[in-house]
This record gives sequence, structure tokens and C-alpha cells, in this order.
Amino acid sequence: MGKNIAVVGVGAVGVEILKILKERNFPADKIRVFARTKREVKIGRDSYRVEAISDEDFDNIDIAFFAGTEGAKGASVQYAHKFIEKGAVVIDNGKDFRLKPEVPLVVPEINKSDIFKNKGLIANPNCTTIQMVVALGGIFKRFGLEKIVMTSLQATSGGGRAFAQSLWEETKYIVEKNKEKKYFNQLDKDRNGTESSFADQIAFNALPQIGGFNQDGFTSEEQKVVDEARKIYGDNKIKISSTCIRIPVFTSHSESIYFKTAEPAGSEEIRKILTNSEGVNFFKNGSKFPLALGAEGSDLVHVGRLRLDSSEKNCFWLWAVADNLRKGAALNAVQIAENL
Ligand SMILES: NC(=O)c1ccc[n+]([C@@H]2O[C@H](COP(=O)([O-])OP(=O)(O)OC[C@H]3O[C@@H](n4cnc5c(N)ncnc54)[C@H](OP(=O)(O)O)[C@@H]3O)[C@@H](O)[C@H]2O)c1
Repeated sequence: MGKNIAVVGVGAVGVEILKILKERNFPADKIRVFARTKREVKIGRDSYRVEAISDEDFDNIDIAFFAGTEGAKGASVQYAHKFIEKGAVVIDNGKDFRLKPEVPLVVPEINKSDIFKNKGLIANPNCTTIQMVVALGGIFKRFGLEKIVMTSLQATSGGGRAFAQSLWEETKYIVEKNKEKKYFNQLDKDRNGTESSFADQIAFNALPQIGGFNQDGFTSEEQKVVDEARKIYGDNKIKISSTCIRIPVFTSHSESIYFKTAEPAGSEEIRKILTNSEGVNFFKNGSKFPLALGAEGSDLVHVGRLRLDSSEKNCFWLWAVADNLRKGAALNAVQIAENL
């Protein structure tokens, strides 16, 4: 017998969840789709009726995927408990519940067994964290990790549909301008006609801020990497630090990862682990490397450019790319549901 499914939110992630449920033949008897407003959405050849979410009518749902906005007025805070009260298990993509001790935070390649400790709600980690913990997952299991330093180059769709649209609008505007003047890079002086989700220009630029700033100068996105990776690995001793940068790419995040193993490890051992790590496609040849464009639409985390840091023992560099909307969000959520 199939399951009755709800998907709350049909933005960048919600649409991807619906696509992936279909692609993977998820055993669904019925799929109900909710958002703020009622309408029809077309995804490929399929049409879905979107219901406006309200305070009632969440009966007979087995699994509810949440891909709405976060915070007090967001979908999960307002409605997740209502689905749970009616017997559903909620898989939430947002940050609201990720660090609650009673809520499993799951990446199936790393901590699948935590799924079964759920009390009605399972959290999907942040996209940036998921791809890093999968890339290092096999290494963590074999040698442990003493330290991770990661710099991310993140796609605009990571902020949602409106952010990707802003990149498109800004780029179009500047390209149009360049018909008159060569190498015109700036939008700021002449912003007319370009409504943007970004405070600073994203087209032809790189923005070293994702999320708000904490008192220590790190952003909320950078803090998520620390807190979530430790929770998923179940190891609070790992020293983790990161810088998260938004770049003018639509889909797929890239990460430069520096790590130190807890136990002594050599290059050959790390290479063997990466070759066999679950969910990882390792580019063994150092001069070939994965690219964000190549990761789009893929289910794997693609890693390459493994280098031993000759200045310090057991330290390595790695490059990792993954589709932020798939493994970074929708696919990971559907994999959790498949385990359920
Ligand atoms: N984008 C990523 O790469 C990524 C990765 C990991 C996690 N996430 C998380 O996934 C969630 C969804 O992100 P997204 O990128 O898909 O956002 P998005 O493109 O902005 O879409 C948000 C969707 O949620 C719906 N929604 C918003 N508030 C709602 C409410 N109170 N009740 C019901 N529906 C509501 C919206 O409805 P309308 O269409 O009617 O406005 C819209 O369909 C966020 O929590 C985000 O942090 C995103």
C-alpha cells in the first residue's frame, strides 16, 4: 500500500521534491500540495493542484515534506505540529527545528539510524552542510576528523526562487547595457528596472554574506555549517570554521574543504575511501575536476582535487560540488522518506 504525501511549498525546493518523488517512483497513493495561495502548477508534463494552506484538513497524511519559509510566520512553525498531531511524520527543510535535541537531523549516508528516533519531525540539514558532510563522511567514519575549514561558493537558488530570478534580471540588464559600452560591470549607479532580492549586486560579483551577521562576525549560514555538521556526525569536538560566499550561478554549490583527520591518514588511504564513499563521485585524476555546471541535476556529491598539505600532518584539501536543490535539499528529504 502506498503512502499519502503532502508537500508544503512549491518554490525552488518544493518543485524539486515533486519531481524527485515521480522520478524515483515513490510509493505515493495521493500527493497533496500546499502553498500560501491556491493555483495550478505545471512541472514538466504534470499539473498539480495547489491548495492554500489553512488551519484544518490535514487528516490522513503519512509523510509531509515542508519546503516553505522559515521563522515565526513560516510554514513549519505554523503548521508542522498540526500535521504531526494528525499522525503524519514531517520532514522539514528549514532551519527552525534542526538543532532541537529531540529532532533528528539526518543525512542518510551518515546517520540513517537517527531517522527511527523521530518523534514526528525529522529535519533536513542546510544544503551547504549536506554536501560537506557527505564528501567527508567516509573519511570521518574511518579516521575521525579533528578540524574542517570550508569556503563555499553558493548558487543563487540556495536563497529560493526569487534570488535566482534576481540574478537573471540583473544579468539581462547588464548584458543589455554592454551593447553600448564594453565591460560595463556595475548595476548600482543605474539600478532602474531591476528589483533584486540581494542588497548588493550579484551579477558579475561575489558576496561574502549569506544570512545575517552574528556578534562574532560570522554569518548565520557559516554558523549552520558548524552546528549542523557536529550534530550529524555526533561529534562536538570537531573544530569547524567556514566562509560562505554567494556567487552568480543559478544551481549547484561549490566548496573548497580543508580537513585534518583525527587519526593518522595517508593520501592513498583517503583516495581509497573517497572512491568507495556512499553518495560520492570521486575524480581520481587530479587534473580533472568536478564543476558546478556538471553537478546540476545529479544526485551525487562530486569531489576532486585531493591534495595532501605537505606543511602539516594528516591535512588535506578537497573540492566538492553538488546540486543544492537535489542532494542539498529535496533529494535528501525524499531519501529520508524512503527509509521511513
Ligand atoms: N533553495 C535551497 O537550495 C535550499 C536548500 C536547503 C534548504 N532550503 C530550505 O527550504 C525551504 C524552502 O526554500 P525554497 O528555496 O524552496 O524557497 P522559495 O523558493 O522561496 O519557496 C517558498 C515556498 O513556500 C511557500 N510558503 C511560504 N510561506 C508559507 C506558509 N506560511 N505556508 C505555506 N506555504 C508557504 C511559498 O508559497 P507561495 O508560492 O504561495 O508564495 C513558496 O511556494 C526554506 O526553509 C529553505 O531555507 C532551501
